[in-house]
Amino acid sequence: MSVPSRRQPLHHATPPADAEAPLGLRFPDDFVWGAATSAYQIEGATKEDGRGESVWDTFSHTPGRIKGGDTGDVAADHYHRYADDLDLMRDLGLHSYRFSIAWPRVQADGAGAPNQRGLDFYRRLVAGLLDRGIAPMATLFHWDLPQALQDAGGWESRDTALRFAEYADAVFAALGDDVPVWLTINEPKTVVQNGYLEGHHAPGRQDPDAAHLVAHHLQLAHGMAVQALRARGGPGRIGPAFNLHPCYPADGSAAAAAATTLYDGYENRFYLDSVFTGRYPADVLDDLGPDSRLVRGIRDGDLDIISTPVDLLAVQYYTPIYVTADGGTVTRWPTSQADWQQIYPDGLYDILTRVTRDYGPMPISITENGLPTPDPLGADDTVDDAGRVAFLRDHIAAAHRAIADGVPLESFHVWSLMDNFEWAEGYDQRWGLIHVDYPTQRRILKRSAHWYRRVIADNAV
Ligand code: FCB
Repeated sequence: MSVPSRRQPLHHATPPADAEAPLGLRFPDDFVWGAATSAYQIEGATKEDGRGESVWDTFSHTPGRIKGGDTGDVAADHYHRYADDLDLMRDLGLHSYRFSIAWPRVQADGAGAPNQRGLDFYRRLVAGLLDRGIAPMATLFHWDLPQALQDAGGWESRDTALRFAEYADAVFAALGDDVPVWLTINEPKTVVQNGYLEGHHAPGRQDPDAAHLVAHHLQLAHGMAVQALRARGGPGRIGPAFNLHPCYPADGSAAAAAATTLYDGYENRFYLDSVFTGRYPADVLDDLGPDSRLVRGIRDGDLDIISTPVDLLAVQYYTPIYVTADGGTVTRWPTSQADWQQIYPDGLYDILTRVTRDYGPMPISITENGLPTPDPLGADDTVDDAGRVAFLRDHIAAAHRAIADGVPLESFHVWSLMDNFEWAEGYDQRWGLIHVDYPTQRRILKRSAHWYRRVIADNAV
């Protein structure tokens, strides 16, 4: 099974001059507006307060892996500047802030008694959010696996899922009363595809047979964390965070239609079906074959764990995929600075209405949507990211249309609150509403941040 190439020709979209003109689309009164980040991408302070090493420390320090040789050692220095960052969130009027907890801060080696100094950082962060009237939304795993667990087999080892459940329980014990929404694993598919198929993310493998077993163990870890929260009780809701890609045939042929169906199985149904129907899609299992490590690795009862009922689905949307008759992909729309990202807001509408149709209505949060733009800092200390304004406006309008057509959408989170370490791209791509001047760590609100503040205040685009 091939995966979408991240090396497509570049066609930059030209933002319309009137990107800020209101469309008059009001959202439900209780709609939640937020922004998202993740630990390794913003925190820095990788050696402080007992934090252990993660696979991303190892990977980013391996020569040739990251553009410009960048690492997350300092990133946006959020570990030290979180209080100022919280003030900026309040200034924007955010209702919700989605962040992730670094497993190696809580358990340096991925096992054993929790490190209270690591947990204290998140206690301070959560308290600071609540003080400012912002709801915390915490992701348990955003790819920074403790290196010690990787050395013991990583997600290829079933044991890692068991360790994850213990880690999750320690986090729930510390923060369970104060965090209303938990997300388990951020984009399991990206770990599978980028980490184990293409190899340009940690741990940098190119091993399809391992990749699909990893997918199963990530799903299992998700289910075990849901069970750990249920066992503790408490007020928090929990769900998975999937990057869903609507797949369309590239042409009208029957072969392209068939290839698209299988492609969709790997991209979307593998993750959605297992959580919401308790089965992996038969076409994907058939395609992998009975001797695959995935099929051999599924044990009785695993799918029951994976399909433990959740409270919500977190959807992250960036791009559609167009599938050709031979199972390849083509680019149909203008791309952003990220050449894998085709700008197609209707894809968000399509994926939201499709999950509601196929799996029944359930609360949905959009937990990531955004794009990178070059964003030079102007002489007058402003950043004129009109392209981001147009992109967000058009995607928020698509979300509005989905709500009008019956999708129980609760929230929208921009990726990202601030510029950060964009994995293999290092600091080259800027995805934030807030510009980070890395040499000084100064924060500058971009035009899109000012615009988003108005959207939140108006509850409308
Ligand atoms: C998503 C990741 C997030 C960020 C955005 C651009 O796949 O979850 O960390 O890299 O893409």
